[in-house]
Amino acid sequence: MHAIGIDIGGTKIAGALVDEDGEIVSETRVPTPTTTELIEDAVVSMVSVLAAGRNIDGVGVAAAGFIDAAQSTVYYAPNISWRNEPFQARLSARLDLPIVIDNDANAAGWAEFRYGAGRLFSDMVMLTIGTGVGGAIVTDDRLFRGGFGAGAELGHMRLIPDGHPCGCGQHGCLEQYGSGRALLRFANELADAGGIGQILADRRAEVGTLTGHDISELIVAGDGGAVAALRQLGSWLGQGCASLGAVLDPQLFVIGGGVAQAGDLLLEPIRASYLEHLPARGYHPEPEFRIAELVNNAGVVGAADLARVAARRTLPVE
Ligand code: BGC
Ligand code: NA
Ligand code: ZN
Repeated sequence: MHAIGIDIGGTKIAGALVDEDGEIVSETRVPTPTTTELIEDAVVSMVSVLAAGRNIDGVGVAAAGFIDAAQSTVYYAPNISWRNEPFQARLSARLDLPIVIDNDANAAGWAEFRYGAGRLFSDMVMLTIGTGVGGAIVTDDRLFRGGFGAGAELGHMRLIPDGHPCGCGQHGCLEQYGSGRALLRFANELADAGGIGQILADRRAEVGTLTGHDISELIVAGDGGAVAALRQLGSWLGQGCASLGAVLDPQLFVIGGGVAQAGDLLLEPIRASYLEHLPARGYHPEPEFRIAELVNNAGVVGAADLARVAARRTLPVE
């Protein structure tokens, strides 16, 4: 049967009807509204359209925040104004379908594990590099959630004591050194310094403020400053991966999210920095580093599949 996956991102909400093989049957997207009420309305109308005339196993909603073990409340969202938001109950009051809420990176990681870069592995870690840094952990073929549901918040691992302030209320989190926003900060710092950053500075003078789009354009064009900013990002992410490797010992790291479209230009400095910072360096089997395969669809495909997993779990035992 089909399930519906919804992925609420910082810029857009994506929705899809997904079959058991992870194939998208139909999809839709809208820009993310600014208030939580309007986000709720958008999700409700999206689900109604996707579900029309179909038998649906369930709806999985992926959201960028700390989610509880019952998969119903968003405890906290660093980059959206959700605080103890009973999102599942709100949606259930308006939709007559089984609904579960999941963390956006967990959903993306699960999709990569089931259908993408992680298919052939039992233990993987995924980092999603976008506005924030999301994390997913699969150990022994299972998605790790932690005791309260909110585990695998890998973007909020501390990298730098007293470092850059983070939306989670702490300082020095990986998210502040490994996200798309961090990439912009590094690019601006290089532009301020001139030299290798001169082309970044010129572009900034031309357009007012540098955007992610400007940086990716300059990266593709091979600009030394933009590539240096990306290498800086990769170096921090690699240090994060080295610490994660010490705890989780994955066979594979998958790098996803918008910034991962830089491909090998991002993967290579991550891997180099990982190898440089790994405990037991030189004596530990080397995990693989891969770019996510499902690109923009990982969130919706994973959310739909996790909804199916949850639906099976709540079936009466025969
Ligand atoms: C949030 C995570 C989310 C990630 C990516 C982080 O700031 O804490 O819950 O997965 O951003 O969206
Ligand atoms: Na997560
Ligand atoms: Zn944080």
